[in-house]
Amino acid sequence: MESVQFCDIPESGIDRALSLAYLVFHETPEEEKRKHHHDLLRDCTRIGAYENGELVGFVAAFPFTVSVPGGELPCPCLTFVSVAPTHRRRGVLSGMIAELFARAAADGSPIAALWASEDAIYGRFGFGPATYGHTVEIDSRRPLALRITPDDRPLRLIDPTDAPALLAEYYDRTRTERAGRIARGEAWWREEWLVTEDQEDDELSPPRVVVLGAPEGPVAGYAIYRTKTRDDAPGLVRLDELEADTPAAEAALWRYLASIDLTGLIRAWGRPVDDPLHLFAADRDQVRVTGEFPALWLRLIDVRAALTARSWAAPVDTVLDVRDDRLPANAGRHRLTASPDGCTYESTERPADLTVEARDLAAAYLGGTRIDALVRAGLATELTPGTAAALDAALHTARLPHTVDEF
Ligand SMILES: CC(C)(COP(=O)(O)OP(=O)(O)OC[C@H]1O[C@@H](n2cnc3c(N)ncnc32)[C@H](O)[C@@H]1OP(=O)(O)O)[C@@H](O)C(=O)NCCC(=O)NCCS
Repeated sequence: MESVQFCDIPESGIDRALSLAYLVFHETPEEEKRKHHHDLLRDCTRIGAYENGELVGFVAAFPFTVSVPGGELPCPCLTFVSVAPTHRRRGVLSGMIAELFARAAADGSPIAALWASEDAIYGRFGFGPATYGHTVEIDSRRPLALRITPDDRPLRLIDPTDAPALLAEYYDRTRTERAGRIARGEAWWREEWLVTEDQEDDELSPPRVVVLGAPEGPVAGYAIYRTKTRDDAPGLVRLDELEADTPAAEAALWRYLASIDLTGLIRAWGRPVDDPLHLFAADRDQVRVTGEFPALWLRLIDVRAALTARSWAAPVDTVLDVRDDRLPANAGRHRLTASPDGCTYESTERPADLTVEARDLAAAYLGGTRIDALVRAGLATELTPGTAAALDAALHTARLPHTVDEF
């Protein structure tokens, strides 16, 4: 490993880095997709692993901002994690991640995040799954049965090229209502959400954007979806995003999607785990959760900065003993004193009330994993009875964290 050096990849090296990424991900993208990736990478931190001048490893990080309870934080988001097949399992990824953690700490980013292609990889680096998503299918061959009355304001389809301004206004206003959501710039809206040809399925239609609310009034909700016909089954509505102000507004959008002629199935990916749809749908056989998956994996780079940056729902005064092999500055006993008025987190000699690994604290940080569940799973140890319950009350968020922007 001494033969491998880690350093920034200059802009002139992006093409080479992309070739390595396509090699390890077994992709042969069209020129347009390659150009898109090139554009995305220009704004990223790019770390390369070089051996004798050859690029053998590459990782990039988007300079994103992610919502956390009570606010938002700068959060480098790892992507294009690639190691040459000739150099795997020699510590190249470990070296690149250590480099990225050092950059994040120097830049004052208390957290980092990623989506994992394989769950087994990132726990050892201190990442824990902090948000989860559901895949949902709705049988729309019959009218959607609802227990509430949908909002009766008008629905209108808008041109996707005009959509970013309208949707961004809504999204930015509501984004921090849930932790785990990523701030979207205009290019992200256009290239990731509203791009004409779907990246994974070229049989899907271009994106359709439906908005609830009169043109002169505020947007009360929106859905982004694509459709396709199928040979041996009614057509498909692939829902990419649905957001709305109220349950009635959500119901109106779901009812619209379920009533599109010549379709008989809605498939939605990455829905929030606490989606109110599952309560207001009258027929649980019609609306089914077909899968659950970890979405955003979070790393607390600086545990003190992360904990003191979020809001707390209830008072707690406790001593945590944190295990963190990769970033030892986080390790050891710390007194956490938090309440809705603020939080302090200081090193202490007092005995610990709870021991927890950094990766599990990261999973609990946004309110999506309960400390009590970690204790029951044998992953955290409660030394003073009641500590897990007090921490869970303090970490609680009204809505579960949610991430749907995959990168
Ligand atoms: C996954 C990948 C980046 C790992 O890189 P690497 O340089 O071999 O990783 P390292 O040698 O630094 O391994 C670090 C540790 O992670 C483990 N590890 C690495 N990849 C793993 C995997 N896919 N599954 C389980 N464990 C893995 C190693 O065994 C090692 O464990 P240890 O610390 O207990 O010894 C590399 O194999 C790769 O590029 N794969 C194809 C692309 C990919 O899957 N990228 C991830 C996208 S999210």
